[in-house]
Amino acid sequence: MIIIILGTRPEIIKLFPIVNTFINNKIPFKILHTGQHYTFKLSNTFIDQLRLPAKKIINLKVGSGTHGNQTALMINKIEKYLNSNKKIKAVLVYGDTNSALAGSLAASKIQNIKIIHLEAGLRSFDKDMPEEVNRRIIDHSSDLLLCPTKISKKYLLNEGIPNKKIFVTGNTIVDAIKSPFTQKFINVKNNSHGDYVVLTIHREENTRNKNNLKKIINEMIKISKNKNYKIIFPTHPKTKKLLNKIKYDKSRLISTEPMDYFSFLTLLKNAKLAVSDSGGIQEEACILKVPLITIRNSTERPETIHMGCNILSKIRDKMIYKDVLKILKRNIKWKNPYGNGNASQKSYKIIKQFIKKNEPKFY
Ligand code: UD1
Ligand code: UDP
Repeated sequence: MIIIILGTRPEIIKLFPIVNTFINNKIPFKILHTGQHYTFKLSNTFIDQLRLPAKKIINLKVGSGTHGNQTALMINKIEKYLNSNKKIKAVLVYGDTNSALAGSLAASKIQNIKIIHLEAGLRSFDKDMPEEVNRRIIDHSSDLLLCPTKISKKYLLNEGIPNKKIFVTGNTIVDAIKSPFTQKFINVKNNSHGDYVVLTIHREENTRNKNNLKKIINEMIKISKNKNYKIIFPTHPKTKKLLNKIKYDKSRLISTEPMDYFSFLTLLKNAKLAVSDSGGIQEEACILKVPLITIRNSTERPETIHMGCNILSKIRDKMIYKDVLKILKRNIKWKNPYGNGNASQKSYKIIKQFIKKNEPKFY
């Protein structure tokens, strides 16, 4: 049996195509939800909308805490679960969250449980990002590493991870967007870009205190005034707490609850541009051909910067407004570096081979 470990909104979104390949191919699996995200609109909304099989989900209800506390509690609970069932042969983790870190660390100490890492090999080379530490530890404790692009494979080889463990599959976010199920529900108006900007902010470097968020909000209001665009801001609950302490023009910047996936994709696709510090939105904006400003000191998604559809804008340099003007003038030659929507199928085939080789009696 394979245990899929997840805990946050993007993991649910990016894993739903993998879960579907497991269901379609009758692979025995269970989903261990750490409970890192527990607010309905960050978790259950996605489980329900993307129809993850509720009967297969075990929620460990770990909740929020400091990085150390949260991760330790997760390791403790995941380890107990993994030790409770001899049929468990592998865990599958996605990306770089504390949930993925805890999953890989717990499994790495248990004999005969293999670790499969999806979205392996991303690097921002910025140790100030908690996720960068997570990525490196997860990759180095994994037995099978599935990379979205050739760049991520190169990073892993440079760190001495053996070639035979690494495969390039594309990113399952393309599968999530292109799936007929998603396409049926997302409402895209003939590629006409509306006169609004989508904003999302949740990264630790932008929410550690209200100063950085205030600088971002001021730049957004400047964009709104000078270009006459409304700013639509689906707001993470922790960002909302800080936003409530800041004065700004609410007729220009509209903070909403976090959106469900199909509503958010519709909003993003029809936007003039997006401003965000998200990882996944860097991929989605590129796939949906929406110019993007990423408010961060570094990114682990260099492909989108190389293509010219994403500009890294550091708040300390007060560049957001100038970078918005710059990207709107660019003649972007769109291509999608994340594959053509068969990453989940490719990953499934590689995982199947891997499990057969390691555990002939798995099936
Ligand atoms: C986490 C991930 C981040 C990912 C993001 C996806 C880590 C280190 N961070 O960040 O990589 O990009 O999820 O959205 O794993 N909170 C709620 N409701 C919830 C969960 C959290 O209100 O359901 C609040 C709490 O105040 C909590 C804070 O948000 O302390 C941070 O939550 P946490 O899960 O630690 O990090 P995220 O910022 O969500
Ligand atoms: N997203 C969503 N509703 C929202 C904001 C984001 O469905 O209100 C989706 C978005 O389409 C993307 C994912 O959430 O697939 C990104 O999650 P987030 O930015 O929280 O995490 P990150 O990708 O930075 O880890």
